[in-house]
Amino acid sequence: MTEHIQLHDKRFKKFISKEEIDAVNKRLGEQITKDYNGNEVVFVIVLKGSVLFATDVIRHVNLHCTLEFIRAESYGAEMHSSGKVKVAHYTGIDIRGKHVIVLEDIVDTGLTIKEILAHLETMQPASLKIATLFLKPEVCKGTVETHYVGFEISPLFIVGYGLDYNEIGRNLADVYILDNE
Ligand code: IMP
Ligand code: MG
Repeated sequence: MTEHIQLHDKRFKKFISKEEIDAVNKRLGEQITKDYNGNEVVFVIVLKGSVLFATDVIRHVNLHCTLEFIRAESYGAEMHSSGKVKVAHYTGIDIRGKHVIVLEDIVDTGLTIKEILAHLETMQPASLKIATLFLKPEVCKGTVETHYVGFEISPLFIVGYGLDYNEIGRNLADVYILDNE
């Protein structure tokens, strides 16, 4: 397996394997199945980064569920959040009175997920929770409550498994971290 890769001007090294990700998806999917105890769930998938996580984790959920998609943008071509988040959806999302779980790839500053939650809360769901594959606790410092977390990681920039560096790297099966050496 490749240990180092180059994306645009940056070098990245292997950080988390697809096997570790598979195991985490199984754990999260089984936990959601248990917690929702036969209730129907709406998964709101945050484009674009969460698509790979979403398609894998929901295969471990043994409940009736529906899927909705939302778009949030804050990074642009940078490696840090711009601080301004735009939320958009292309289809009419009907979540009133329903149990909703937002599927997010990564919570960094927490700004994106906060904006998404505020947007969805106005639609009066019965409940609203967050499942994120990655969390940078030192960056978001508990400003947002995350209910299901795959991996807690250091504040470094990662790519792969849906996550991009200026739009490339999303197709990598493993996750890579910025190599500063
Ligand atoms: P936040 O608003 O700072 O929490 O950032 C959340 C969004 O920024 C995520 O949905 C990602 O699209 C992007 N992001 C944050 N950290 C990383 C990273 O390490 N690699 C790639 N994208 C990231
Ligand atoms: Mg992104």
